[in-house]
Order: sequence, then structure tokens, then C-alpha cells
Amino acid sequence: MAVERTLIIVKPDGVQRGLTGAILSRFEQRGLKIVGMKYMQVSRELAEKHYEVHREKPFFAGLVEYLTMGPVVAIALEGHNAIEASRNTIGATKPQTAAPGSLRGDFALDINRNLVHGSDSVENGQLEVSNFFSEAELITRTAADDAYLA
Ligand code: RTP
Ligand code: MG
Repeated sequence: MAVERTLIIVKPDGVQRGLTGAILSRFEQRGLKIVGMKYMQVSRELAEKHYEVHREKPFFAGLVEYLTMGPVVAIALEGHNAIEASRNTIGATKPQTAAPGSLRGDFALDINRNLVHGSDSVENGQLEVSNFFSEAELITRTAADDAYLA
């Protein structure tokens, strides 16, 4: 099984609404392991880099505005099938169509305030984690339940 890394961001609405703990616990309960975590203000430069693929979209300016409107919690997670598993835990981009039980399906209503980001491919997971964390900030560890998650 593939051990993958994903960048999760509790977006500014998630932090302001006091949902950081609830969001983090869903990923922890799923068995994904924290390898990096920080409370931070995303700069305009980093937001633009993070959402570079959307630069030409009509919603790009609003998206950069959204990610920088307040502090976020950035979390690097590692685990088997981390990308697909975390995307499903997050739910569909449009919260109104996200499955109940997913984070967006349970806690969000609008695409412009959809609470949480998760990397969408193995390559982007590696890239986004390295955009938000230095090597020194990424700490791997052996967990007691590793043998029960494989
Ligand atoms: P994210 O990157 O934040 O995890 O979201 P996602 O993969 O589910 O969706 P993506 O297609 O990557 O879009 C990034 C963010 O842009 C905003 N968006 N607005 N108005 C629109 O049509 C529209 N489409 C996308 C959303 O905030 C989305 O999370
Ligand atoms: Mg995306």
C-alpha cells in the first residue's frame, strides 16, 4: 500500500468558527498521521502559488482573498492512500452537494467558504507540503497503531 502525503488547510472560516479541532479529529480518527502543523497567516504570494492552477479562473481573486482573510491551520498528513481518503473525508467542492458525514457536508454551505483544503494528487501533495513546510518542520514518528492501519 502506498504511503502518501497531503496538505490539509483549515481555511480562515474553519479557524474563525472554532472548527479546527473538529476538523483535525476527523483526519486523526481516520488513521492519518500528523507530520507537520502550524497556525499561520498565509501571504498573498503563498496563496497565489498554492492556487496557481486556478490563476486564469474568474474566481481566482476571490479565492486568494478568502485564503488570506485570516489565519489558517496548515497540517501535513501521512498515511496509506492519504490523498483519496482525505479528499473523501473533506467532501465535494460544493458543500451543498457534499455527502453528509464529510466535513463540507456537515459543516459548510457555500463553495466560497468551503472550510478545508486537501491536496488532489500524490504529486500535488508532495509539492504543497513543501510549499508550506521546511524539511525541519516535518517530523515522522513510529506510532503504536501502525501495524493495525496497514
Ligand atoms: P481545495 O483546492 O480548496 O481543496 O478545493 P477543491 O480541490 O475541492 O476545489 P478546486 O477545484 O481545487 O477549487 C479551489 C477552490 O476554489 C473555489 N472555487 N470556486 N466559484 C467557483 O466556481 C469555484 N470553483 C472553485 C473553492 O473555494 C474551491 O475550494
Ligand atoms: Mg483543489
